[in-house]
Amino acid sequence: MRCYFHAFFLCAVFTFCSLLYVLSKVASSLEEGEEQSSVRNRRVPHRSSHDAGHLLRKGPGLLGLRQPENELDSERPDSAVKAHRDERSHLAVVACGPRLEETLTMMKSAVLFSQKPLHFYIFAEDNLHEGFRHSLDSWPSTVQTKFKFTLYSITFPKENANEWKKLFKPCASQRLFLPLILKEVDSLLYVDTDILFLNPVEDIWALLSQFNSSQLAAMAPEHEEPRIGWYNRFARHPYYGKTGINSGVMLMNMTRLREKLFKNDLTTVALHWEQILMPLLQKYKLNITWGDQDLLNIIFHHNPESLYMFPCQWNYRPDHCMYGSNCQQAEQEGVFILHGNRGVYHNDKQPAFRAVYEAIQKYPFGENMEALLLEPLEESLQAATHTYCGRASHTFTRSLKQSVTSVQQDVTQRRQSGHHIDVTP
Ligand SMILES: *[C@@H]1O[C@H](CO)[C@@H](O)[C@H](O)[C@H]1NC(C)=O
Ligand SMILES: *[C@@H]1O[C@H](CO)[C@@H](O)[C@H](O)[C@H]1NC(C)=O
Ligand SMILES: *[C@@H]1O[C@H](CO)[C@@H](O)[C@H](O)[C@H]1NC(C)=O
Repeated sequence: MRCYFHAFFLCAVFTFCSLLYVLSKVASSLEEGEEQSSVRNRRVPHRSSHDAGHLLRKGPGLLGLRQPENELDSERPDSAVKAHRDERSHLAVVACGPRLEETLTMMKSAVLFSQKPLHFYIFAEDNLHEGFRHSLDSWPSTVQTKFKFTLYSITFPKENANEWKKLFKPCASQRLFLPLILKEVDSLLYVDTDILFLNPVEDIWALLSQFNSSQLAAMAPEHEEPRIGWYNRFARHPYYGKTGINSGVMLMNMTRLREKLFKNDLTTVALHWEQILMPLLQKYKLNITWGDQDLLNIIFHHNPESLYMFPCQWNYRPDHCMYGSNCQQAEQEGVFILHGNRGVYHNDKQPAFRAVYEAIQKYPFGENMEALLLEPLEESLQAATHTYCGRASHTFTRSLKQSVTSVQQDVTQRRQSGHHIDVTP
């Protein structure tokens, strides 16, 4: 018997040491991965005609009111405004499998309604890179002036690459490593590929400045209605708050995230982000269902002061309407970000979600948005009124209309003001 305990003790010590070793490897292999990743940085072409980039300029429309110091500095390249100029929103997405078109549609929605410039960090399987490059390069040059993009291969810590890949749908856990891969990036908005922006990206980006001193990430609740909530009924692990959090739209101050020591139920000491992930996976892998979202729930369960909860209208899913409308803020102010999970952009279960996806996907860049985006959308939403989500679809079009109006006003303003921008030094 004693001999048995002895062996057991040795085993435990050995396991602990291996774990430490693996952790140190995780950190170093991530660094390597970063160097290897295929990186392509496209500079924003310099504005050469009065037309180029005119969509970018701030108009006195609704957006101007929402964000008074929205002034874009790309027109005044003097050094005094340089610091201001990087008011770019940084947006990351992870695309694997058959997600190219969906991801491009998400990016299109981001570009269409944003008035500030964007930087996309696209993590994709290598065989998708050419498709991204080709499609984005074929967008009109006026549109291309609004964003940069960088393509990355999917990279995982080498030792556990297979375990991470298996964790959830292919590649989804990549997002957990973004703070470690994009070391030079201060803050990041991560979105799933099935997200559509109905509002300018800078609106959600502005929430970063609302963080108090302990908050470092922002997400929406997984559910509004505990009676149909998943975590509170089924989870076999800790989760955040009453109903858990949904990680499909995740805003991060990664500077803080990389510095923070996270309380946890693995050891008595607090751990850094890169130290916590693998032990957490090992401990909970038999109990988690939704992969990396569950890990985030566990982490923020133990560190609730680090999370900023934004309301459901920033991550509006079929759950918010399929059994009747339960996202109050969307009823009041409209849906800002639509999240078509459960494949609803591509099947017939929620025609209202699919209608929004198709309207944005089919809209030809540069054409009148009222006539060629809003009107066809309203028409197809008419055909969805037999569903609960169809009946809630006034909440989809509400903020979309405002976004369209403010972009159109901006275009008109630009046309009227003619060449005046070109003479600005
Ligand atoms: C996993 O779930 C089982 C069954 O609910 C539970 O007994 C166990 O404590 C859970 N494991 C962890 C690490 O929480
Ligand atoms: C993120 O946090 C760091 C450290 O607190 C701060 O300097 C930085 O301005 C924050 N970034 C944003 C976009 O708020
Ligand atoms: C920041 O807000 C969160 C959530 O309301 C709260 O738990 C936390 O204590 C706050 N932190 C500080 C430093 O006030």
